[in-house]
Amino acid sequence: MIRPNKIYAILIVFFLSGFFVSRAQEKPTDYLSTEFHKNRRDELRKRMPKNSVAVFFANPVRNRSNDVDYVYHQDPNLYYLTGYKEPHAVLLIFSENQTDEEGSSYNEIFFVQQKNPMAEMWTGRRLGDSGVKEQLKIENAYNGSAFKDYNIDFAKFDKVLFYDFKNDVRDNPNDQADLYSLIEQFKQKAGYSSGTNSLGREPQRNNLDTRSLNSIMASLRGIKTPEEIELLRKAVFISTVGQVEVMKAMRPGMSETEVQGIHEFVFKKYGSEYEGYPSIVGAGNNGCILHYIENHKPHIESTEMILMDLGAEYHGYTADVTRTIPVDGEFSPEEKAIYDLVYKAQEAAIQRCKPGVSFAELTKLTKDIINEGLAELGIIANPSSPHLYFPHGLSHHIGLDVHDLGPYDVLRENMAITIEPGIYIPEGSKCDPKWWNIAVRIEDDVLITKDGFELLSAFAPRTTEEIEALMKQSSPLDAFKLPELKGGK
Ligand code: GLY
Ligand code: MN
Ligand code: MN
Repeated sequence: MIRPNKIYAILIVFFLSGFFVSRAQEKPTDYLSTEFHKNRRDELRKRMPKNSVAVFFANPVRNRSNDVDYVYHQDPNLYYLTGYKEPHAVLLIFSENQTDEEGSSYNEIFFVQQKNPMAEMWTGRRLGDSGVKEQLKIENAYNGSAFKDYNIDFAKFDKVLFYDFKNDVRDNPNDQADLYSLIEQFKQKAGYSSGTNSLGREPQRNNLDTRSLNSIMASLRGIKTPEEIELLRKAVFISTVGQVEVMKAMRPGMSETEVQGIHEFVFKKYGSEYEGYPSIVGAGNNGCILHYIENHKPHIESTEMILMDLGAEYHGYTADVTRTIPVDGEFSPEEKAIYDLVYKAQEAAIQRCKPGVSFAELTKLTKDIINEGLAELGIIANPSSPHLYFPHGLSHHIGLDVHDLGPYDVLRENMAITIEPGIYIPEGSKCDPKWWNIAVRIEDDVLITKDGFELLSAFAPRTTEEIEALMKQSSPLDAFKLPELKGGK
């Protein structure tokens, strides 16, 4: 028989082990690894000019209303290099080893938000300098308050690389280690003056370089590592499942907001933290507004198409997928003619994707197909007639930003890009009114492989036949009925 005090001891061990097991499972385990971030810092170091330092600041906190801030999102460069998700931080990376006052050498130093139990009770856990060392494995981490007295002579570097300031960061006068103070302290140490000289908005000390860092970071971030590709694959797959579920659930009379909600519910169901950009859900002529984000049309008509451009952001990486579908499940002849033309242009560009092909060539290929098709349909007089029916670019990198940093000359292995042609014919356009209010964009996410491409977003159907077939299927949401909202008009 077990004595009571032994029972207590066993219970305590049991509860504590449960506590630790459940705490161990409190977070997803598929974030970028600390080795990834370290490797990225090492790669950056290799690409920096000799005798230089690169300086990265955290994104500012933005106020939404009164005492509510916008959901915080880290600056993608800082996240890429550290994995740190909190505000009020500055990272310095040196091209060569530096020696501190005790004679130890270091090649990076990170000043982060200090732990503060009272603040953490309200706004969440902070890593503090010790957490950054332990969890992010960045040895040389200090609390932000130490930056003020950090002894560094910026004048001795050939280059001090940083992104220029936008002067739009709020000061918290009670916090000498907030982002505002870190920036002001850096400006003072580096001899930066916000004034202008004869060249315009140019920092005054001539080793200060606000122009080069972006192309260095683009050369890094434009080529994805296997870890990044894994996360992008997940983000894109989640986004395509959203499209598939909406294709099944779409019914005339739904609102644009409701359709947006179905996509975003799927994102959350899979553990996506955010949308990678404000979701675009535009029925009928709303589809002609390229970045329509009001999504407030209350009742979508059966005669309309709906353009849905959404991307899940999964552990920092965002997809960017657009599908355009007929609300009643069947494309009209005019809708099909425009849709098939966009599809033909998109398919030609996707099939052309491989290393060495230029972005400009892909763009020309699609523009030519669309121009010829529009002329054949009589929407423009001839293929060289100027028009605004395809007013945007064809392709951009995706990654930590939806419009990710990356080079735009030629495709290279492990680039992740969109291919997104579109045709938009707003009411009043100079063509037969039967084409008015048709807006079609088809946007897919493509990984460039060694000798071709992989279509990451293949799970969401693209042809009119596949879409019509899928839209005939029932949806679990058909049975999801909520009480009527009373009190409105
Ligand atoms: N969703 C924005 C874009 O397609 O570029
Ligand atoms: Mn896009
Ligand atoms: Mn898009």
